[in-house]
Amino acid sequence: MDAAALIDTLHETHRLDRAQWLFLLSAHTPEDRARLAALARRTAQAHFGNRVYVRGLIEFTNHCRQNCRYCGIRRDNRALTRYRLTPEEILACCDQGSALGFRTFVLQGGEDAGFSDSLLCRTVERIKARFPGCAVTLSAGEREHSVYRSFFDAGADRYLLRHETADAAQYRVLHPPELSLAHRMDCLRQLKEIGFQVGAGFLVGAPGQTDETLAENLLFLQEFQPHMVGIGPFLPHHETPFATEPPGSTEQTLFLLSCIRLMLPQVLLPATTALGTAAAGGREHGILAGANVVMPNLSPVAVRKQYMLYDNKLSSGGESAQGLNQLRSQLDAIGYKIDWGRGDSPLVQSANR
Ligand code: 5AD
Repeated sequence: MDAAALIDTLHETHRLDRAQWLFLLSAHTPEDRARLAALARRTAQAHFGNRVYVRGLIEFTNHCRQNCRYCGIRRDNRALTRYRLTPEEILACCDQGSALGFRTFVLQGGEDAGFSDSLLCRTVERIKARFPGCAVTLSAGEREHSVYRSFFDAGADRYLLRHETADAAQYRVLHPPELSLAHRMDCLRQLKEIGFQVGAGFLVGAPGQTDETLAENLLFLQEFQPHMVGIGPFLPHHETPFATEPPGSTEQTLFLLSCIRLMLPQVLLPATTALGTAAAGGREHGILAGANVVMPNLSPVAVRKQYMLYDNKLSSGGESAQGLNQLRSQLDAIGYKIDWGRGDSPLVQSANR
C-alpha cells in the first residue's frame, strides 16, 4: 500500500476499508498531508464555494448529570459555578444574533434535569415563531426517543451529539460505566430516523486513542453518513481526572478534517472552538483543510467563563458573535467569506420548515 494512492482512492470513491484507513493514518508523509488538505479544500469549494456558514452558539446551561472524564462541566466538578439561562435570556441572545445576521441558533447545554424537556420544546417553538426562516440546532445530550421526537415536533431542525469515540474500549476510558457506546449510537440512529439533520463527531488525541481507534471513528462516520461532523482536539481541564493528560494534536485534527471532507464531500464540518483554542490560526487552518462552518459564541458574556469544557476555551474576539468583524478579516485573509444562508445540509430536501 501507498498513502498517496490511498488518498486518490478516497478522493474518487469516498471510502476506504479498515486496513486502508490504518495505513493512511500511520504511514503518511508531510507531502501526503499537504496534498490531502489541498484536495479537501478543493472539494469543499466545489460544493460550497469560498464560503463559510456561521452558527450562533448559545450555551444555555452548564448543569450536567453526566460525569465524562474529559469534560469541565462534569457532575463532579464542584469548583464550577452553575448557571441556567431562562427562555427569555435565550430569546434575548437570539435577538442579538438575529440583528447580527445569524440564521442558525445552536442551543447547547449539559444534560440538565432542571431545564425540563417541555421547557426546551416551548423555547424552540418561541425561537421559531419569532425568527421565521431560522434554523434551530439542539445539542443537549442523550434523551429518550419520545423526547427527541418532541424536540423535532417543536421545530428543532438539527441535533448535534458527538459519539466522542467509536471504539468501545476507548469509550470506557473516557466515560463512567453508566454510559455506553451502544446507547450513544442508538441515540444517533433515532435522531436520524426522526428526521433531524444529525451531527456526530469525536475527540482527537483523547486518552486511549490509537490509530486503530481513529480508523474505527472514520469507519463509523463512513457507515453512518451524518449531515454534520464536529471534531476537535482534546484539551485538558484542570478540574477533571484528565487534568494532566497531554492535549490532542492540531496537525492530526487538520489531517482528520481533510479525511472527513473527502469521505463525506457535502458534510457540514466546523472548524471548532477547540481547534481555535489549541493553536493560533487554528480555525483558519481548519477551513484550509476542508472545514466550512464556524460557530461564534452568542452566550451572555457573563456566563461564558462558566462554560469551560476545557482550560482556556476561547469565547471572545473572532470566537464571539460580537467579534464578527474580526472573523470577517480572518476569513478575508485566507480568501473566504461568511455565507449568511441557513446552511442546511445539501443532502436534505426542503429542510426549511
Ligand atoms: N476537550 C475538547 N473537547 C471537549 N468537549 C468536552 N470536553 C472537552 C475537552 N476537554 C467536547 C465534547 C462534546 C462537546 C460539546 O465538547 O466532544 O461533545
